[in-house]
Amino acid sequence: MSTFAKGLEGVVAAETRMSFIDGEKGILEYVGIPIDALARNSTFEETVFLLWNCRLPKKAELVDFSAQIRSRYALPGDFRKRILDMPKDAQPMHVLRTAVSSLSLYDPNPNATDVPTAREKALNILAQTPTIVAWFDRHRRGLPLVEPRSDLSFAANFLYMLNGKEPTPAMVRAFDICMILHADHGLNNSTFTARVIISTLSDMYSALTGAIGSLRGPLHGGANEEVMEMLNEIEAFAKQQGKDTSAVIEPYIMDKLARRHEGARIMGFGHRVYKTIDPRATFLKTFSKQIAADTGNLKLYEMSSKIEEIMAREVGAKGIYPNVDFYSATTYHSIGLKLDLFTPMFAMSRISGWAGHCIEQLADNRLFRPKANYIGPHEAPYVPMDQR
Ligand code: ACO
Repeated sequence: MSTFAKGLEGVVAAETRMSFIDGEKGILEYVGIPIDALARNSTFEETVFLLWNCRLPKKAELVDFSAQIRSRYALPGDFRKRILDMPKDAQPMHVLRTAVSSLSLYDPNPNATDVPTAREKALNILAQTPTIVAWFDRHRRGLPLVEPRSDLSFAANFLYMLNGKEPTPAMVRAFDICMILHADHGLNNSTFTARVIISTLSDMYSALTGAIGSLRGPLHGGANEEVMEMLNEIEAFAKQQGKDTSAVIEPYIMDKLARRHEGARIMGFGHRVYKTIDPRATFLKTFSKQIAADTGNLKLYEMSSKIEEIMAREVGAKGIYPNVDFYSATTYHSIGLKLDLFTPMFAMSRISGWAGHCIEQLADNRLFRPKANYIGPHEAPYVPMDQR
């Protein structure tokens, strides 16, 4: 008997050893380690090793793995020209999706899907993605492109290429923590997309390109940009009314909630799996408060906190709580990142999760092929053109 689950809710479609989610209790673990412990103690490089090997590295292994990532920051062939040829007003997520797809053109063996070669490709794409994002941003600002530095970590090198100067240790740590928190999250939409694509024995480039396309949507990773837009909109609305922002938050949110059956959404809230606060949001809430205070953005944090309070009162009982995107908007803004780079930042980290899932899929593959309930007519007449 086939059952129909709209949006595949509740359907188990894969097995993974990478991340575990308990949506009722608000638990997220990578290979059994609570996300909070990783955010406090680990680095992005170590987290990727953990996800791809299902264990923490020994010291020498981490040194070697980090060196492998650092040696691959450079883009291949004339890729620089490709970036410089891109329209300056293009949206960064469209640039990233196109660029990751284009990387396959420089690979003499793009189709290989044996696990060791797929891992090599994953490592290359993971290391090259920050260069693509930083270089496109420099290009659109009319600034010279900054060569990657293999003496810097994944997080430090990205901020260095983006801003043209070495970031402070505090900024590097803040960004590194965001990368850890976004690395993997069960069979979310973009990860499912990647696994579906690789299950045809297509290739790593196609799988990751498709996943980037999925992540961009405002119901998924695109929500972090929408959260920032909402905060900006509230500020602009208050200015227009000549009122303090704190006075307009409540009517703004209540108006959106009143229209939720028409599809209005408070971005950064709600989740298919979590029915309590997303543990990544719990961490980011405290973290964003600190970083917002350090960088003079406390007002944004306070606005977010007020929105959370109203949402808990109004729809908390329905299980609608902040998700990872809600406080990551304030965090990224405080680090000085531009709004339309928020989702590319998410992608830079999640490539590790997508690629890890592709490797799991390749190691024990079965083609994804669900069914659809046909709800159209049967035995319909073919009406000749002149009688329609
Ligand atoms: N604002 C207002 N109401 C909401 C919200 C929200 N953000 N999220 C859910 N609801 C309400 C719906 O109106 C609906 O109410 P009803 O039962 O009275 O009709 C109920 O909660 C269920 O909502 P669905 O959209 O059916 O839940 P679903 O599991 O399909 O969607 C989703 C989950 C897409 C994340 C949704 O909560 C949403 O649109 N949130 C805003 C976008 C967002 O923040 N996305 C990022 C998710 S995290 C990530 O992908 C990285």
